[in-house]
Amino acid sequence: MDTDYFKHKGINFASLIYTQERFEFLENEFQVLDDDVYIVTYPKSGTNWVMEIMSLIHRNGDFTWCQEVPNFVRIPWLDVSGEGQKLVDECKSPRLFSTHLPVQFFPKSLLSSKAKVIYTARNPKDVLVSLYHFAHMTYVIKKPNSFEEFMEDFLQGRLPFGSWFDHIKGWIQMKDKCNFLFLTYEDLKKDIRGAVKTISTFLGKELNEQTIDLVVEHSSFSSMKANKMSNNSLAPETVMNPKKNNFLRKGIIGDWKNHFMEKQSEHMDTIYREKMKDLNIKFTWDEIEDHL
Ligand code: A3P
Repeated sequence: MDTDYFKHKGINFASLIYTQERFEFLENEFQVLDDDVYIVTYPKSGTNWVMEIMSLIHRNGDFTWCQEVPNFVRIPWLDVSGEGQKLVDECKSPRLFSTHLPVQFFPKSLLSSKAKVIYTARNPKDVLVSLYHFAHMTYVIKKPNSFEEFMEDFLQGRLPFGSWFDHIKGWIQMKDKCNFLFLTYEDLKKDIRGAVKTISTFLGKELNEQTIDLVVEHSSFSSMKANKMSNNSLAPETVMNPKKNNFLRKGIIGDWKNHFMEKQSEHMDTIYREKMKDLNIKFTWDEIEDHL
């Protein structure tokens, strides 16, 4: 199956599951509610992991929801059209949604609401590697010709959802707002208990130690990989090839080292420094890289 993109305000999206009309509707007409929670990421930054944690926190550690209902039904994707759109339109309050939308496409009604946003970012080198493998099993990203070419598309913002740099720089402008939580995949890997506590406190839920244990256990890589409601093996076959399904691939920090040549790593570091210099923020992945 061939993958087609269309451009919306200069950014590529797969025609298979997204439409310009839906994006216009979401930006200008969709009503954000005060008790909504939005999980926002650039693709391959740990979205499904945070969805699992959120599902478990939402149900106070009761994991039957995660074992009986697919993750994309528990926490619908805000930005998709077709069948997935119905899940959004029919979702009852308190609503939990996931999205990869860049901040400038997000519903404007967020600005006047108390809805909460959890933004999770990941080392762009690991995002790129994860995305490269994902592109071989999905129909929403064009099949890469080579890692080299795919990297250039990533760095130039030609992949769906646009530039990683613009995405994080756009969303991080909200970092001082009380309804915004910024996390990194690396924070979750380094201290999952701490991250679960941070998320639950942000959501206004104080969990006891036993409940935190349940959230940690049932959102682990091995639990999610073994759970067909959470490993995306139930995703529509038009979107992902189930035979190639390896959505939960490695789940580690630093797999980029197995894929990048030295000169590719230096090239990406140069672009990263240039594009991120005005932010003046050291991310967890920068600290990890400093210790290599
Ligand atoms: P890898 O391809 O590096 O393994 P997203 O959900 O945003 O599409 O991100 C997918 C990435 O998150 C994949 O990375 C996947 O393995 C990883 N992931 C998902 N659940 C995880 C978990 N419980 N622990 C660690 N990594 C997880």
